[in-house]
Amino acid sequence: MELTDAEQAMLAGEAGFAARKAMEILVALGRIYEAEDLVQVGSVQIAGVSYHNLGDAGLQWLGEMAEDGRVRVLTTLNPAGMDLQDWERHGIDPAFAAQQQRVVQAYEAMGVAPTCTCTPYLIGNLPAPGEHVAWAESSAVAYANSVLGARTNREGGPSALAAALTGRTPRYGLHLDHERVPEVEVVVEATPRDTSEWGALGHVIGKRGGGRVALLQLPDAPGMPALKSLGAALVTFGGSPLYYVDGVTPQPPWVPVKLPPLTVTRDDLRDALRELADGDEAVDLVCLGCPHASLQELADIAEQLRGATVQSELWISTARPTAEAARRLGLIETIEAAGGVVMSDTCFAVAPIDRPGQTVATDSVKGCYYGRGHNKLKVHLGSVERCVAAAIRGRWA
Ligand code: F3S
Repeated sequence: MELTDAEQAMLAGEAGFAARKAMEILVALGRIYEAEDLVQVGSVQIAGVSYHNLGDAGLQWLGEMAEDGRVRVLTTLNPAGMDLQDWERHGIDPAFAAQQQRVVQAYEAMGVAPTCTCTPYLIGNLPAPGEHVAWAESSAVAYANSVLGARTNREGGPSALAAALTGRTPRYGLHLDHERVPEVEVVVEATPRDTSEWGALGHVIGKRGGGRVALLQLPDAPGMPALKSLGAALVTFGGSPLYYVDGVTPQPPWVPVKLPPLTVTRDDLRDALRELADGDEAVDLVCLGCPHASLQELADIAEQLRGATVQSELWISTARPTAEAARRLGLIETIEAAGGVVMSDTCFAVAPIDRPGQTVATDSVKGCYYGRGHNKLKVHLGSVERCVAAAIRGRWA
């Protein structure tokens, strides 16, 4: 692989221990994927933040890298295993909290912004069309490639940190024009009606598309919450983190004469939702904000909760700056008056929830996957409105 003088110097350790380790990771990756060189990145989004997933080995590695490692580009963090400020109120074990704080402190020592959100594009890490970035959070990778038109592979935790400490990533995969060509045309016969159905569409394409780059033909262009849900589910279920939607994706794709078609009907969406759901009628917990909720989504939830009292626990995850704006607008007060909880820095999939067998209702197909897998919860899937109604009644109808 061809390296510049500056890159050779980092590899030789002239920029310190962490930069050398980071270059070693990138060069090894580049060789595996036959990259010709490294490409400069405009920003990095790091996953691997929850102590629940990292454990002591991960924390120790971060501590070693933080001794002299400093990021060279804007670098933001994925959700942690708890709300970094309100963890006591949420019943987090103090021993876990102490280790989680150490993880975030190690990242901060390297100059990483402790944003702890999976929607960095909603709070200022917003790449331009065509910009190369190195992001790790799968839902954000799909959003960056497909909605913003940026270029990123789906990085792992170590490779994203390595990109942050060097400002570079190997030029392979979705950084290359010929890897961004659509390979399958998806004809969506019925427009999904809510975020759970957009997630169901992502589930169907992910499972049937075989990891190919999809070109979606939709009756109507979707909005931001729909695109968040679609991309999050699509990648979770094995799809490529690049898809094209006419009128949404900034760079029009080069389209081969005829692509193999894949048709998705309303029955397919309904079947996907049925296949994923296994909850009991009584709902213990309702989780919204996966991916993290926008200000408008918080406003919609607050409006539905106004004057009501929830019978089930209701958690809504969002980025801290979004929560602060919502507080100034009185939205958090309305949600809390109804008994709901707005959490920042975390989500129900990465937090250590020990409630096996309990039933959660969510609009998120990705959240459903992790709620069932990591946290052994039973799940109901439906629109945000239906989930909020279930929280108020304490039952799924
Ligand atoms: Fe974000 Fe957690 Fe969902 S990281 S995409 S809210 S599983």
